[in-house]
Amino acid sequence: MILNYVELENIRSYKHAKIEFPKGITLFEGDIGSGKSTVLMAIEFALFGLGSQKPDSLLSKKATEGNVILNFEVEKKTYEIKRKLKRRGDLISQDSKSCHLVSDGEMEPLSASELKQRILQILRFNEPASANSESRIYRYAVFTPQEEMKKVLSESKMRLETIRKAFGMEDYKTAAENAKIIISTLKTEIAIYKERFSNVAEQKKSLEKSTGEEMKESHEISELMKQLTTQEKHESLAHKSVVEARKKQKEKDKIEFEKDNIGKTLTKSKSNHKSILEEIEEKEQEIEDANDRIIKLEKISKPTSKNILQIDEEIIDIEKLNTRLTNVKSKIDTTVDDLSKLSKKLGSYNDSKTEKLQTQLVELNNLLTRLNNQHKEVEDEIIEKEKEKAGLEERKRNLESKIKDVSNLGSKCPICENTLTAEHIKNLEIERREKLQETIDSIKKIQNEIGEKSNKKGNLRKQILDKESVRSKIESVLPILQQQEEKNEQLRQSQLELRGLDAKKVIPEEKSFPNNGKFNNSLAYMKALRDALLEFVNAKNRIEYEKNTKVKTEDQLKKIKEKNELLVQEISVLEGKLNDVSKSLSDIGNIDDVLRKSEKDEENIRDKIEALKEDLSARKERTKNLKDEIERIRKEISNSEKAQEKYEKFSNCNDWLKEFFIPTLEQVEKQVLRSIQHSFNSIYQNWFSVLIDDPTKQSRIDEDFTPLVEQDGYEQNIEYLSGGEKTSIALSYRLTLNSMIRQETESLKSNLLILDEPTDGFSKTQLSKVRTVLQQLQSQQIILVSHEKELETYVDNIFYISKDGGNSHVFRKNA
Ligand SMILES: Nc1ncnc2c1ncn2[C@@H]1O[C@H](COP(=O)(O)OP(=O)(O)OP(=O)(O)O)[C@@H](O)[C@H]1O
Ligand SMILES: [Mg+2]
Repeated sequence: MILNYVELENIRSYKHAKIEFPKGITLFEGDIGSGKSTVLMAIEFALFGLGSQKPDSLLSKKATEGNVILNFEVEKKTYEIKRKLKRRGDLISQDSKSCHLVSDGEMEPLSASELKQRILQILRFNEPASANSESRIYRYAVFTPQEEMKKVLSESKMRLETIRKAFGMEDYKTAAENAKIIISTLKTEIAIYKERFSNVAEQKKSLEKSTGEEMKESHEISELMKQLTTQEKHESLAHKSVVEARKKQKEKDKIEFEKDNIGKTLTKSKSNHKSILEEIEEKEQEIEDANDRIIKLEKISKPTSKNILQIDEEIIDIEKLNTRLTNVKSKIDTTVDDLSKLSKKLGSYNDSKTEKLQTQLVELNNLLTRLNNQHKEVEDEIIEKEKEKAGLEERKRNLESKIKDVSNLGSKCPICENTLTAEHIKNLEIERREKLQETIDSIKKIQNEIGEKSNKKGNLRKQILDKESVRSKIESVLPILQQQEEKNEQLRQSQLELRGLDAKKVIPEEKSFPNNGKFNNSLAYMKALRDALLEFVNAKNRIEYEKNTKVKTEDQLKKIKEKNELLVQEISVLEGKLNDVSKSLSDIGNIDDVLRKSEKDEENIRDKIEALKEDLSARKERTKNLKDEIERIRKEISNSEKAQEKYEKFSNCNDWLKEFFIPTLEQVEKQVLRSIQHSFNSIYQNWFSVLIDDPTKQSRIDEDFTPLVEQDGYEQNIEYLSGGEKTSIALSYRLTLNSMIRQETESLKSNLLILDEPTDGFSKTQLSKVRTVLQQLQSQQIILVSHEKELETYVDNIFYISKDGGNSHVFRKNA
């Protein structure tokens, strides 16, 4: 592989840079952190993707996307790879859509992982193409990152694995493992096939047995077939007899059927004849009965000359008269009842005369007016006397007071102021006492008069009350008396009407329908007369009807008699036919027994045939089974034989793999590894001697490809070597690997080597040895990164990398 150019866009400290790689030895120099290693990282990223690198360590912090384009040549073919990184939020990943590979001008749109696979294929690196691991072969043989240079000394397991992979040693291991897998599969198969043919001898024996049985059965079948043919002939003859007997039996059935029909018709005709005779008798009886009924009906005579309408009118009149009579009687009863109640109410006034009571009432009123006037007069007089009496009592009280005043008088008159004497006072008292007595007497007299007048007034009052009571009695009695008089008049009228109505209640009588004391009222008589008239009318109609019916019955009787004659003829014909049919039947004889026997014979033969067929079918089935069994055993034997063949073939294979192939592989692997190790060791020792010029120290590569160092003939631990020595051993190892792989791998032949700070810890003298190394390498293209100015003189091309404002720039120093 030869690198043509690399183009970086937003990668770490690069905004944009395109570096064209010349052939020969190229040195990239520049300050710490200027961007040297970035170029190498970009190349690895373009080839194999991220591997173990973090995307964050590749994409420029300032950018959201960046890409690397790498143009290179392998076996005279030009390729260009492009890979792109994209930032989405905090996540950075490869943009698979923007990846591609152009091989010899032809675009291959590949995803990120497909791209890696394709590159491994182009470079012919025998490695897995897992996305998150770097190419170990590239890392060991072509380019090792700055910090990982010395890891080759410590990681022995990984180193050996890589060497095995790089030199295709894994293929032997894989082949041996695959062979073991095949052996284990073969073992199972061998066991299975062995089992499958283990009972071939038994199978052959049972084949012999089944074949013998099958032959025996076939012989039996041919014997049975012969018997079957004979029996089938017998069956055909027996069947003929049965058919003939059945034909005769059918004929017999037909005649019997006919006989049966004639018999039935005859029975029916006889039965009809009997019924007709009964019918004739019935009809004759009906005619006789009708004659009797007509004679009876003609005896009924007409009861009256009136018609029904007239009788009905008379009945209505009688019913009206009866209703009126009932009403009048009921009215009389009600009036008598009312009069008895009125009489109770009137009591002593019962049957009094109204006029007399009215006169008595006028007189009473006059008397009461008089008594009331007298009562008023006495009352006024009493009031006058009371007034008079009150004046006298007032006077009495004055006089009593004056008498009291006399005893209290002094010697002087209080009025005239004259001198009063005892006598004068005495006289005055006597005078006054006399006047008082007079007044008391007058009061007594008036009181007596008042008493008398009061008695008179009481008497008058009593008389007035008595008279008023009499008056009110008369006043209350008067209207009742009037009612009584009216009722009496009504009663008289009703009784008069009743007498009139009774006179009309005479029972009528027709001459041709005498009463003879049967009916006690005219209504009953008239109704009976009406019924008798109706009976007469009905009898007339009935006679008509009976006569008509009789004519009809006579007609029917005539027809039935004609029918009877025909039936008698028919019966005689049928009896003749029956005789003929019976004769035919006796001619045929007992065909049933003949048929039964023929059928029995046929059935017996058929049973025999059936048994033969069953036997045959069973034997055929058995033969078929035997044939199937023979076929099955044959197949089994064939399978067993095939299995035996396979068993032998697989056993040979198994033996070959186990006994020959795997041991041979191991030997070849050992031989090849030994040869590689031999070459490896000699190349390594060469590089070691170039880089370390110390005769006391020797180094070699052991069987496990581990670098060993001897100091003065003693083995020395690599850990205790100086930094420069370690760098030298590591560089020697890597240079060896590079040389070896270039020899082995066509794609890398005499090609590329990339070294990032390979001279860390080297002395000036050692640095001068790098020149020899570079010359001896004879690589078409070596890319060297170093800040050792000294190296400038050993190289063909110098690139200077500087960083300005955080952005890296590449300049070519010599052109
Ligand atoms: N993702 C990134 N974005 C921007 N710059 C980055 C990023 N990652 C690393 N850098 C910076 O890029 C610069 C270049 O790094 P690089 O490893 O190429 O330096 P160098 O020249 O090899 O230095 P040295 O001589 O020390 O090995 C450094 O300053 C580094 O810190
Ligand atoms: Mg660096």
